[in-house]
Amino acid sequence: MFKIGKLSLCSNIILSALAGVSDLPFRLLNRTFGASLAFVEMLNVRSLSYKSKKTKGMLITNVQDKPLGVQLLGKEEKYILRAMDILKPYTFDVLDFNAACPAKKVVRRGEGASLMREPKELKKLLSLVVKYASVPVTVKIRAGWDCDSARDVALQAEDAGIDALCIHGRTREQGYHGRVDYDSIRRVKKALRIPVIASGDILSAELAKKMVDETGCDAIAVARGCLGNPWIFQEIESIFTRGKPPERPSVETIISVMSGHLDAYVDFYGERIAIIKFRKFFSWYTKGFRRVRHLRTRASQAKTRGEMRAVIEQLNDNRGQ
Ligand SMILES: Cc1cc2nc3c(=O)[nH]c(=O)nc-3n(C[C@H](O)[C@H](O)[C@H](O)COP(=O)(O)O)c2cc1C
Repeated sequence: MFKIGKLSLCSNIILSALAGVSDLPFRLLNRTFGASLAFVEMLNVRSLSYKSKKTKGMLITNVQDKPLGVQLLGKEEKYILRAMDILKPYTFDVLDFNAACPAKKVVRRGEGASLMREPKELKKLLSLVVKYASVPVTVKIRAGWDCDSARDVALQAEDAGIDALCIHGRTREQGYHGRVDYDSIRRVKKALRIPVIASGDILSAELAKKMVDETGCDAIAVARGCLGNPWIFQEIESIFTRGKPPERPSVETIISVMSGHLDAYVDFYGERIAIIKFRKFFSWYTKGFRRVRHLRTRASQAKTRGEMRAVIEQLNDNRGQ
């Protein structure tokens, strides 16, 4: 069990916030494999204030989609408060504040990872969020802007009264590439009293264990490691509890999960949008498969559920991953 303030989770294996990916069917799929907490896609507080159709779509959830977090991006107090007001009727279990997003258009506005350069400002914003939130508050930070500054930023954040801190062990300058700085995460864990959730290269059960061993973190957040690979959650659970992961899934299992994912997408988005969105998942699910280039091309051209399903079933003839 793992606790974030008053929220108890069944494990410390979390599905990281993933903009553009973390829709309802994706969250439900990863939950069936053991993700103990998931987040709706990151919400820009300004867009939320304008209640665009896209933003409203991101907020769709159901009773199985619990516990559920929401992540806010922004830096203007007025919009942050308005966003929190708009979110009141929704029953989220955690509110996470983003100080980690490296996108140019985000940091140009002084938001996301840019706040790593302004720990005092971040503390002020977090204090505001903590004051008005009715659920536990967390923050997502990076190792730093262009060098390690995570410990100081984390201490300021803790001072604001947050319930847990999530750290991606790369600087903004690194983006999503290069070495994860385990030392930076370990220093943060040592300095804080609140739980620390670690993120960065949790791409396998072994790397999840390495993260815990090297940093002493309380929980881990899986991101790219679960794209086309929801099994990673049960594999991590197994390595944590039994010391070794189970066998990798068979091709039949992968085909069956892919088909279920496709059906869930068609139900949720309608066929046209679902197929477009599923194309990238086809590539992710077939990562490491041999002789699939032609199938990927066909998947990228598929327009109907039938066409996509036919390509998925062809994987049976391409055994020997
Ligand atoms: C497609 C994608 C979308 C992401 N969206 C978010 C996001 O909305 N909020 C956030 O805090 N982090 C986001 N991240 C960062 C991840 O949550 C995670 O911290 C990062 O990818 C490092 O973990 P990894 O190396 O295991 O992928 C995103 C990452 C990816 C690849």
